[in-house]
Amino acid sequence: MSKIELHDLTKSYDGKVNILEKINLDVEEGEFYVLVGPSGCGKSTLLRVIAGLEKITDGTLKIDGKIANHMLPKDRNLSMVFQNYALYPHMTVKDNILFGLDVKKVPKEEQKRRLEEAAEMLGLTPYLKRKPRELSGGQRQRVALARSV
Ligand SMILES: Nc1ncnc2c1ncn2[C@@H]1O[C@H](COP(=O)(O)OP(=O)(O)O)[C@@H](O)[C@H]1O
Ligand SMILES: [Mg+2]
Repeated sequence: MSKIELHDLTKSYDGKVNILEKINLDVEEGEFYVLVGPSGCGKSTLLRVIAGLEKITDGTLKIDGKIANHMLPKDRNLSMVFQNYALYPHMTVKDNILFGLDVKKVPKEEQKRRLEEAAEMLGLTPYLKRKPRELSGGQRQRVALARSV
């Protein structure tokens, strides 16, 4: 987990309209922070900016006290669960959950331990060998969450 700070953060996609305008907020390490608002108000944009998937137009983003405006997404030590799951259809639930750890070359023993922990936490233990298309929407969402965990 990391501390997140936004300072007058502004985001425009077209250089004309500000989708986010001077947003200021702090999220402490370990804090459960909920962002609500009507459709189209900029919630996803804010998350994408924090994850590094969108460029910041103005203002400052800090992660663990360090300015992170231009930090690569992979260096931010954050993970994101997308609204539309973003699961690999040809891979099993198990391989979808393990994907990030495999890429990071985490030792197999630790992969196994973390898989079991995340699957148990999210009620996915019976489904590890299935493909995403064999799951309900809620189960798919939980696979995405397990991968993030
Ligand atoms: N890639 C993009 N290019 C241009 N406009 C975008 C893009 N993504 C989102 N928007 C616009 O930014 C606004 C905020 O969108 P979004 O952050 O997805 O809202 P929310 O997640 O709160 O529903 C909307 O008006 C949307 O049309
Ligand atoms: Mg959204």
